[in-house]
Amino acid sequence: MTSTVDRPTTTAAPQLPLDMDGLTWILFGHAAFQYLNAASELNLFETLRDRELTSDEIRAELGLAQRANDVLLLGCTSLGLLSKSDGRYRLSGVLAELITTDDWQRFKDTVAFEQYVVYEGQLDFTESLRANTNVGLRRVRGSGRDLYHRFAENPHMEQVFYRYMKSWSELANRHLVAELDLSGTTKLLDCGGGDAVNAIELAAANPELHVTVFEIPASKAIAEKKIAEAGLSDRVSVLDGDMFADPFPEGFECVLFAHQFVIWTPEENTALLRKAYDVLPEGGRVVIFNSMSNDEGDGPVMAALDSVYFASIPSEGGMIYPWSTHEKSLRDAGFRSVQRIDCAGWTPHGIIIGTK
Ligand SMILES: C[S@@+](CC[C@H](N)C(=O)[O-])C[C@H]1O[C@@H](n2cnc3c(N)ncnc32)[C@H](O)[C@@H]1O
Repeated sequence: MTSTVDRPTTTAAPQLPLDMDGLTWILFGHAAFQYLNAASELNLFETLRDRELTSDEIRAELGLAQRANDVLLLGCTSLGLLSKSDGRYRLSGVLAELITTDDWQRFKDTVAFEQYVVYEGQLDFTESLRANTNVGLRRVRGSGRDLYHRFAENPHMEQVFYRYMKSWSELANRHLVAELDLSGTTKLLDCGGGDAVNAIELAAANPELHVTVFEIPASKAIAEKKIAEAGLSDRVSVLDGDMFADPFPEGFECVLFAHQFVIWTPEENTALLRKAYDVLPEGGRVVIFNSMSNDEGDGPVMAALDSVYFASIPSEGGMIYPWSTHEKSLRDAGFRSVQRIDCAGWTPHGIIIGTK
């Protein structure tokens, strides 16, 4: 697997003071994203991989009308996605590098997620702040209590979501595999394990490990299909249920919550950790794996931007919480030792391990 294009900018302080150019980028940020999404959907970047083309050549390859091609190239060049010299367009350095890695499709899956799952519901961000709840969920068809319980009624959204979720996990779960020593562990419970992306990676890296994915009934089939495709049905299984309403199954030495604690309130997270604590043996571990904001409350910027989605859409109480919020939840739930691991990379992922 080729590594992510790691860049430290997401953990650096924002460039201050903000000037008029910076303010303009924020003002038209939604439009900047639309150029990125259109270029991604039209395969503009793949068209320019390893070559330089004129406007007419790009237009012919993309099958666009003259005006449409002019708009697209104006935007992509002025935003720095492309550069232009001697009448020819080429990819910016970061795209030229990223497109050669396994992370390229993961990046594109993230763009599609922002477009088809995130974009519309964020219109209700202000109302979500006023009401302190996820008002934007009203834009997702269905009556399920949260986003995940509405996917069954929105098949395209469900497909985009799980493709993204797998990619988003894969962007960082190499750190989880590397940092989480499971050599003495035989049974791990993956709560809200999605399509089993992390369960599969952990089982593949640890031949003695058996993983149970605990998922809502509507998502069970998605996980089982991916497990079968990975050839791991003998060691990775799916238990359907509701991790809030149902008791946790017993007999596990490790409980994983991957991309969970950005969705629920800290109180709900603490309650889940208590349920994990109660079924773990002495010395058993709980693992929190998701994006983290810093304890100073001023970054990184990706954690701030991603929080708009979590505050507006999936459930009542989400945000990219600071490390310290999860560490407090762990201590409140009874865990005695807490270890923090920063996954230095493009995304602001972190791992916290609590030991009973
Ligand atoms: C953000 S996704 C994370 C998926 C996976 N852990 C990953 O990291 O890729 C959250 C997952 O939690 C599941 N989920 C939501 N509510 C749940 C509940 N009450 N019980 C069990 N799973 C739940 C959803 O169906 C969804 O697959």
